[in-house]
Amino acid sequence: MSHIPLPHAQISAALALLRAGELVGIPTETVYGLAADASQPAAVAKIFAAKGRPADHPVIVHIAGAAQLAAWAQNIPDEAYLLAEAFWPGPLTLILERQPHVSPAVTGGQDTVGLRAPAHPLTHALLSEFGGGLAAPSANQFGHVSPTTAEHVRGEFSPEVLQLVLDGGPCAVGVESTIVSLVGDTPKLLRPGGVSRAAIEAVLGHPLEHHTNQHSAKQRVSGLLDSHYAPRTTLITGHAEQIMAAAAQRQTAGERIMVLSYSAIQSATYPLHPMPTDSDNYAQALYATLRQLDLAGYDALLLELPPHTPEWLAVQDRLHRAAHHKLS
Ligand code: TXA
Ligand code: MG
Repeated sequence: MSHIPLPHAQISAALALLRAGELVGIPTETVYGLAADASQPAAVAKIFAAKGRPADHPVIVHIAGAAQLAAWAQNIPDEAYLLAEAFWPGPLTLILERQPHVSPAVTGGQDTVGLRAPAHPLTHALLSEFGGGLAAPSANQFGHVSPTTAEHVRGEFSPEVLQLVLDGGPCAVGVESTIVSLVGDTPKLLRPGGVSRAAIEAVLGHPLEHHTNQHSAKQRVSGLLDSHYAPRTTLITGHAEQIMAAAAQRQTAGERIMVLSYSAIQSATYPLHPMPTDSDNYAQALYATLRQLDLAGYDALLLELPPHTPEWLAVQDRLHRAAHHKLS
C-alpha cells in the first residue's frame, strides 16, 4: 500500500474540519466511521445527533497506534500491549480503564474507554497527522446496516451534517472490529469481529470468556442490542430446508422474494443471490449485499445460514442481530 500516493489535499481538508469540531466520514478496514475529535465533547455530541444514537452509548476512540494507548487509558495491563503488538493496526478494539480526562460523551459515562488503531492507510495517515484520538462509531443511522463504501456513508447523512467523506474504497474486512475487554480479572470477548477469537487466544495463551449476549446497564454495548445492523426489508434466516419451504410459501402468496443462498440451495424455482462460501469473503460482502437488495423493493429476503463453526462467528453474530425472523 505504501506505493500508492495518499490524497494529501483530502487529508488536510479532513484535519481542518476535525479541528473545527466538525464530523468527517473515514474509511477503516472494517466499516466506515463517523469521526469527531474525541477531545471535543461538543463535536462528539454531533455524532450522536447525526446518528440518532442514544447519548449513553460509548464510542470507540481511534488512535494511530500503541504509543497513544497511555494518553487515553490507565492501569494498562501487559495483555493490552501484547494484543496491540500482534493485531494493530487492525480490526481489534480494546476496552481499558479510561484516563480521567476522557469525556463522558465518549465513554457513555463509564470508567472505561474503547481504543483501536485502524489499518486503512488513509485513516492511518490522518490519525498520525492528527496526533489525537478520533471518536467514531460506524457511519450509519442507529440500528441500520453499517457502511462499507463512501457512497453508503453519503446516503446516510445530509451534506449539511457531513461535508466530507474520505473515500478509501470498499472495506476489506466488512464487519466491525472484535471487541475485547481487559477490565476485570479475565479478558472477555464482547463482540466477535475482524480478528478471530482463536488468534487472540493464541496470543494471550489462554481462553477468552465470551460475553456477547450479556449487556448490563453498567456496560452498555449498543452493537450488542438485537435488531442492530438490520436492513429495512424483512430478513428471514434459517437452514436450507426452512428457507426453501418459506420461499415456496411466500412465492405462492404472491410475494416478491430473494433467497440469499450459502451452498445447499440450488433451485430454479425462486430467485437466488449466491453468497460467498468462504467466511472472509462472506463478511466482506454481507453489508453491501443487504444494502443493495434493500434498494430492490423485495417483500422479504430469505437467507440460508452458513455453518456454526468458529470461522463464521462474526458473520453468525451479525446475521443473528440483523434478522427480523429466525426460523432456526
Ligand atoms: O470496526 C469498528 O469497530 C467500527 C469502525 C468504525 O472502527 N466501529 C464501530 O463502532 O463498530 P460502533 O459504535 O458502531 O460500535 C462500537 C461498539 C459499540 O457496541 C460500543 O458500545 C462499544 O463498541 N464500546 C465502545 N466503548 C466501549 C466501552 N468503554 N465499553 C464497552 N463497550 C464499548
Ligand atoms: Mg455500529
